[in-house]
Amino acid sequence: MELWSEGETMILLSLLVYFMSTVKCFEMKTIYCTISDSCDCDFKPNIQGLEWDLYKNVYGQHLAQDIVSESVARFLQNENPDRPLVLSFHGASGTGKSMVSTMLGRYLYGTAMGSTYIHQYVPTLHFPLADRVRQYRSELKRWVLGNLTACARSIFIFDEMEKMPPGVIDVLEPFLGPSHVVFQTNYRKAIYVFISTVGKEVINKVALESRQAERDREEIQPEELEEAIADAVYNNKNSGFYNSKIISEKRIAHFVPFLPLLRRHVERCAQRELCQRGVCQRRDVATAVGGAMSYMPQVGQHFSSTGCKLVPAKVNLFL
Ligand SMILES: Nc1ncnc2c1ncn2[C@@H]1O[C@H](COP(=O)(O)OP(=O)(O)OP(=O)(O)O)[C@@H](O)[C@H]1O
Ligand SMILES: [Mg+2]
Repeated sequence: MELWSEGETMILLSLLVYFMSTVKCFEMKTIYCTISDSCDCDFKPNIQGLEWDLYKNVYGQHLAQDIVSESVARFLQNENPDRPLVLSFHGASGTGKSMVSTMLGRYLYGTAMGSTYIHQYVPTLHFPLADRVRQYRSELKRWVLGNLTACARSIFIFDEMEKMPPGVIDVLEPFLGPSHVVFQTNYRKAIYVFISTVGKEVINKVALESRQAERDREEIQPEELEEAIADAVYNNKNSGFYNSKIISEKRIAHFVPFLPLLRRHVERCAQRELCQRGVCQRRDVATAVGGAMSYMPQVGQHFSSTGCKLVPAKVNLFL
């Protein structure tokens, strides 16, 4: 008795041909996608939307607004950048770092963080053990290369860099510079965003000094902070960038400082939260939330210790 009837053999063969052509098609698309200048892997950048959202909804962060909108726009205008865009966000908790990284995803891929081309790493989840640095390095390298081969316009977000074991991230150093163009994989179109609270002391110090000198907050320039933040992340043993070549080789295009938020910013966060809940008119609640936050430093009490992070919880309390 024959194992397969003629009909079954035909169906099997057709399925095999279909399967192989799909795989081939995917491979061809991947190759085309990575070497062609016109390939966009669902990339739908909306720079105006990004600028609008940054300037309208991120409070008290003129440096982040300017640096992020200008550097992203300039990078995307260039069809053939000679290196990827590498940004590093720094500042105290609740000042908007993760919020801005989410905006990038939303306006570059049109889908918050849901796109297959936006990759977010959380060290406590992906790299929890300090004695597995070698393993994490090879996994990370393989993962980044695989994603770049699938889509040159990938976005990589490394949140909580202060919790990443030192040594892991350095494996990416060769891909962050200008030298790499390898057949099948273009390393130069990716966007990397590193996020950490390391450097918050120098940022808060400059913000405080500027206030004490009665200088307008908006007058603080990026140059006043960039070098001090770079030194802080390079020298801090709790930073994923401790002694990192990424810093010494100057692979980070911009250190983006997030300033500590004032009471008026906290009240704006509360007001926005109230409007989202359909009770815009409850200004009394926004004021109460502003009054219920803790502020630092002890003398002066200018800056919210938790930025806007606890606003929803406090709104619940007073509403
Ligand atoms: N500058 C800001 N302008 C407007 N809203 C803000 C700002 N900063 C924080 N928020 C609000 O607070 C929430 C928490 O902020 P976010 O998660 O961005 O903080 P973070 O800087 O990433 O803090 P952490 O270091 O603790 O992760 C945001 O989702 C947003 O609603
Ligand atoms: Mg965050």
